[in-house]
Amino acid sequence: MSKPSPPLLLLLLLSATLVATCRADPEPVQDFCVAAPRGDGESAAAFPGLPCKPASMVVSDDFFFAGHARAASTDNPMGSGVTPGNVEAFPGLNTLGVSINRVDLAPGGINPLHSHPRAAELVNVVAGEMLVGFVSTAGKFYSKVVREGESFVIPRGLVHFQYNVGTGPARAMTVFNSQLPGVVIAAPALFGAEPEIPDAVLAKSFQVDGEVIKLLKSKFRK
Ligand code: GLV
Ligand code: MN
Repeated sequence: MSKPSPPLLLLLLLSATLVATCRADPEPVQDFCVAAPRGDGESAAAFPGLPCKPASMVVSDDFFFAGHARAASTDNPMGSGVTPGNVEAFPGLNTLGVSINRVDLAPGGINPLHSHPRAAELVNVVAGEMLVGFVSTAGKFYSKVVREGESFVIPRGLVHFQYNVGTGPARAMTVFNSQLPGVVIAAPALFGAEPEIPDAVLAKSFQVDGEVIKLLKSKFRK
């Protein structure tokens, strides 16, 4: 086989680097690494994953998760319930680079504006119909009414939502290319942060007066 020319070599190197840097989680180095039980309050955000339970103690149930069999309550001001299926809830996902949530929306319910710093999200609607949308870094809003059996993808890190626009309850399964995508929910992150973001910072950022900020904080601060 002839040697690749220098420009081709450069292109190959560039593509390899791009592929490596676009991955969400690190590549696994073994078949599986079921997360060993963690101590109270110990974070699941660990690099390159959580410590493994000894392979000799791994059983079929470690690869099974029943947490999505039932709907989450939507009896709250948003009319929504998200049941996470990440490595914290499902230790068998450790080092596998994937996770899955169940999203339940009452009629008119919303999974409010939020983003995932560590993963892209594939939204597959299982029941009902929802408006799914995100905003790009160029400030463009992309959205679509997504119905049963259809999917919509949210690029990594971008602010997005799901809003039930049908007449009955709606449900989606959302799949991530990370075992722990992380979530920043926009309104509580800004108006419910602890310690609080100074009113002046928020008022200036949103170009409104302090009373508006106080009202918003009263809704999101505990
Ligand atoms: C939906 O957006 C989810 O994060 O599960
Ligand atoms: Mn999401």
